[in-house]
Amino acid sequence: MRAAWRATTALRRRLASALFGPAQAVSQLIECTGAHASSTAKPGLAALWQQQVWQSWAAAGTGVPSTKPSSSAAQRLLQLSQQHDTLAAGDFNFHHQLTAGERLARIEMLLQQGVTEETVQRMIERSKGGPYMQSASEGAASLAVLRGRGCSAADMNLLLRCQASIIGRPASNVSDVFAALDDMLQLSRPDILRLCLKQPSLLASDSDKLRQRWPWVQAHYGLSKKAVASLAKSMVNSRRVCALLTYNQDTITARLSGLQRLFELSDAEVSKLFPYLANLLEADPEQHIRPRWDLYQSLLGNFTPADKRRFIMSPESLQLPETTIRSVFSGVEQLMGSTGAAQSLLLRSPKSFGAGIKRLATNLGALQQLYGCSLQQAQQVLLRTSQLSTYVLEAPKFQCRVAALTKWYGHASPAAMLLAPCSGRRVSASLWLLGARMAFVRHLRLERAKPDLNTGKLAETTERFCRSVRVSEEEYAAFEQRWLSSFEAAELCRHEGPAHLRVVGAAGPEP
Ligand SMILES: *[C@@H]1O[C@H](CO)[C@@H](O)[C@H](O)[C@H]1NC(C)=O
Repeated sequence: MRAAWRATTALRRRLASALFGPAQAVSQLIECTGAHASSTAKPGLAALWQQQVWQSWAAAGTGVPSTKPSSSAAQRLLQLSQQHDTLAAGDFNFHHQLTAGERLARIEMLLQQGVTEETVQRMIERSKGGPYMQSASEGAASLAVLRGRGCSAADMNLLLRCQASIIGRPASNVSDVFAALDDMLQLSRPDILRLCLKQPSLLASDSDKLRQRWPWVQAHYGLSKKAVASLAKSMVNSRRVCALLTYNQDTITARLSGLQRLFELSDAEVSKLFPYLANLLEADPEQHIRPRWDLYQSLLGNFTPADKRRFIMSPESLQLPETTIRSVFSGVEQLMGSTGAAQSLLLRSPKSFGAGIKRLATNLGALQQLYGCSLQQAQQVLLRTSQLSTYVLEAPKFQCRVAALTKWYGHASPAAMLLAPCSGRRVSASLWLLGARMAFVRHLRLERAKPDLNTGKLAETTERFCRSVRVSEEEYAAFEQRWLSSFEAAELCRHEGPAHLRVVGAAGPEP
């Protein structure tokens, strides 16, 4: 029976790969193919669940319920399931067909457990019949595992719509995947769940394979501990990076060596840039990335090594539709007034391609209307500090930062402040950081009777800032701690997000 099902699954995969290319290559498409239930019964959790159900019935004194009339929804789904079951008598898998009673039991269990009628319908349509699972009780046990990991009803529906096969696995296999992810990634439980919701096919994967794959990736690409932790974190937010766990080894090595050839990177550079390259795993390097890479250079001129790094470090820009790339380029030409200015801005801010032309236009407008720049000055600000071009410059937090910095450094106008050297780094820093340092310098002025004391290193690392005002980092840290909880801080930073705890020496700019 198992062999027969494996044969049909293999057939379906072959069909899918004929239609879409290798299953993993289908970018932008969450793998939503339904797999049929495995037929090896695994008692454990299912039996336990069954037992609990019997016990609760017994405790309620109702005895075992007789089959209650099923809802019209269940009846409708039963019919749908029968219509979708394409196996005809004589088909060599015919023996696997479910009886009407078996179908109904599964459908009713799902509906009772908070799976919506619509989700069950999708499961039936996608897996051509079913819903396939070893038994209603084993299916319920799998759902209990999901709920135990914090899945809401909405999460559960999402998982089953994308990956109906989750419920076709023994519940212990599902909990094994969670345990493997816990051990491998060292993330919080809510983050592990978020990651599974990003890439539901993980919950249909083999936990032993996962446990082998992850150390292999780290060793094969010489990843640092820091890189490994950052990859784990980015998996929570990006399905693309999850490919490191869901693709097979051959695909991963083929994709990465394709990228290495295309970008002309040394092995050491591959290790260093790995967290960015991992975002490109879903795309075939020659087919999808090279045309964009070539297009960028035809528009902007051949990349220097620094340009190359900036584009690799904005992996979204390497996956945009080519028409978007062209239209952003010509839009920027118009907004910036010349081809040269557009090239210079875009080479230094590849993220502008993804942010789009409207963002740039809005920022040019904000620089003129909110910060008093002329059009030429606005263009100049963005050319000098290209990182500003993708920010939301009209946001109140930027207005507050610009006002505070203009006053602090005694500039004649916000425009003058924005055109001054270092303005990009300063405006990028949160007022939690800038404000604490300004307050500290004011405190030193009084204490040391040096009313003119100031520093140009307000937005630099704590180490550099402290060195420039000749104070130990410990003394500053104590002051900062007090300031962060002051009324003045709350007032000044009311438009910033919450203050982030910073490691001494690691205070960096924040977008
Ligand atoms: C469940 O896990 C066992 C043991 O790891 C494995 O042999 C089996 O194929 C898995 N079943 C499914 C449907 O994933």
